[in-house]
Amino acid sequence: MHLHKYEKWWLVFGVGTLFAFLVILGIGAFHNGTHPNQARNIIDYENVDNHAPFDNPGVHKVEGKDWDYEVVIVASAFNYNPIEIEVPLGSVVKFYATTKDVIHGFEVAQTNINLMLEPGYISEYVTEMNQAGEYLIVCNEYCGIGHANMYSTLKVVDPNATENSQ
Ligand code: CUA
Repeated sequence: MHLHKYEKWWLVFGVGTLFAFLVILGIGAFHNGTHPNQARNIIDYENVDNHAPFDNPGVHKVEGKDWDYEVVIVASAFNYNPIEIEVPLGSVVKFYATTKDVIHGFEVAQTNINLMLEPGYISEYVTEMNQAGEYLIVCNEYCGIGHANMYSTLKVVDPNATENSQ
């Protein structure tokens, strides 16, 4: 079979880009830990307030688990409860989040934390807080007129840092 020179180049280009995309996908999935939400746990979205752990939103220290803190977040148009999250540097944190109304996002800018919050589902994510700082939490799913104002803050605080402001 004779292939024209340009056709060969085109085939090489096509196969090459396919291979490159698979490599990028593999790095994202296996090295960076990116994966779709598993959404194994369901919840009655009209009764979130009475369903553990969402009856007690906030940051909770836990013992005897693979993580040190549990952060429980309830999203609703157009805010997050709790308003602000603070965890110590170096801690392993498990996030539990859900929504009381429409789909919201929970993205912590500059980190790998990025959850889609769907009515009726509990989104979970475990991560280690290994960089101190103040991170912006944004809703990255369009949820209505107040979408652009739906944000919050995650503070990762170094307990050993010296306080230099007075
Ligand atoms: Cu909540 Cu956009």
